[in-house]
Amino acid sequence: MRIATTGLGPSEWGGDAMVLFVPEGGMDLLDQLVPEAAALVKMKASRLKFTGKEDSILAVELERGPVGSVYLAGLGGGDGPLPLDRWRRGMALAVRQAGKDRRVKMMALSGEAATPEVVAALAEGALLAEYAFEKYKTQVEPVEKPEPLEELLVHGADAASLEKGSLRAAAQNYARDLANEPGNVISPAALAGKALAMAEEWGLDCEVLDETRMREMGMNGILSVGSGSHNPPRLVHLAYRPEGVSKGRVAFVGKGITFDSGGLNIKPGDYMRSMKGDKTGACNVLAVMRAVAGTRPDFEVHGFAGAAENMPGGGAYRPDDVIRMFNGKTVEVDNTDAEGRVVLGDVLAYASGSKPSVIIDMATLTGACVVALGPYTAGAFGNDRELVASFREASAKTGERFWELPMDDDRLKKKIRSEIADVLNSGGRYGGAITAAMFLREFVGEGIKWLHLDIAGVDTSDEEYGYYRKGATGFGVRTCLEWLEMRMSR
Ligand code: BES
Ligand code: MN
Ligand code: ZN
Repeated sequence: MRIATTGLGPSEWGGDAMVLFVPEGGMDLLDQLVPEAAALVKMKASRLKFTGKEDSILAVELERGPVGSVYLAGLGGGDGPLPLDRWRRGMALAVRQAGKDRRVKMMALSGEAATPEVVAALAEGALLAEYAFEKYKTQVEPVEKPEPLEELLVHGADAASLEKGSLRAAAQNYARDLANEPGNVISPAALAGKALAMAEEWGLDCEVLDETRMREMGMNGILSVGSGSHNPPRLVHLAYRPEGVSKGRVAFVGKGITFDSGGLNIKPGDYMRSMKGDKTGACNVLAVMRAVAGTRPDFEVHGFAGAAENMPGGGAYRPDDVIRMFNGKTVEVDNTDAEGRVVLGDVLAYASGSKPSVIIDMATLTGACVVALGPYTAGAFGNDRELVASFREASAKTGERFWELPMDDDRLKKKIRSEIADVLNSGGRYGGAITAAMFLREFVGEGIKWLHLDIAGVDTSDEEYGYYRKGATGFGVRTCLEWLEMRMSR
């Protein structure tokens, strides 16, 4: 899809389709159209009870004139400025509708509201909506395939914002593409290969530690988790370094379990299904780094991914095992299915070694987080008020929902006490998302501000919604990028 700006007004442009964004009760906006079109669209809207509700779309085919169809995308109501995500989703619905109607050139009219933020959201929404994971389909579905949009003109848009939205969408779609790949295609080594290729293309540094190197370094957490699989683990370190003086250093860390069978504490079939998605945190980190390479901030950004496959092979780690981790702490294994934290323990400690001021980790860490918050809100945990607050501020712009869960309960912390080692890898069912975060905290270097995002559940969508399709969402990437941008302008 080509996205560009246009100065042409609605009555000066001819093409396949035009989309207008309508807040609830904002039908006056239709008066921008030529009178004949406005009258017809208004009539259809009233007949079909379109009032501008959030996530609603009305498609009206025009019989005469230079424009084929008019789409009205509802923005909803409420006090104050409309949340940006409504624009993103409205644009996404219009793009999908155009696909169904086989309209390939569209103009988007946002009128007075075309601020840089809105423009970026529109470009982002359009490109996210276009995403589909179809590479393994060898046969065209019997239903008629939608036609991809060739050109989107955004009225009154500034080129820089279109560019920003496009870059962010591309990063998210990259994360979705990687996360959607099955476990037989993306092994830990294959994930590392993807990181190397991406780094090469985008001019980032990339170092991959293989199992031999990790053994020398004493990374027994990630090695233990990977030991039940024929596909050995990898630790990926991507780095962006600005030219000239760097104004700081931040690091992202991702859980990259390429498949989580549970290991010897094997998951029942229903729960094992979808566990190809257990590498999403790592995919997100790669995607963030890709976008960082495109935006070139004036501080260093590092990305670390711990890749391993959790399988119950003969070499598998066992319940009762005691593991000496990279930072010297010992872990007693209560449950081999609590593998993500064991991997991340080593990766967080390793990332701490490069002395970043901030570490943000993303992990599909616990089913308990999905139970607590549902499948549309991610868990956030941290050791620094200001960091949590700034991240949530970023999330208000991106529409990705994060909710903080408390880590200050020392009674709960006792659940991960071990009789024979420093810490136990599982604290049982209750407060499971929190005890997992408390486990991770043990491996973050002294003095580092740390934010942990539990993206279990939000990593995939089992419905079509807005710009999402069934499958990987890339949830988290956008907010990390927004957060980085807020930090850049500080
Ligand atoms: N990868 C899972 C968590 C998960 C569950 C992600 C559902 C996405 C959807 C994780 O490794 C896991 O198995 N966690 C266990 C921890 C338990 C054994 C303490 C869980 O949540 O049941
Ligand atoms: Mn698990
Ligand atoms: Zn897992």
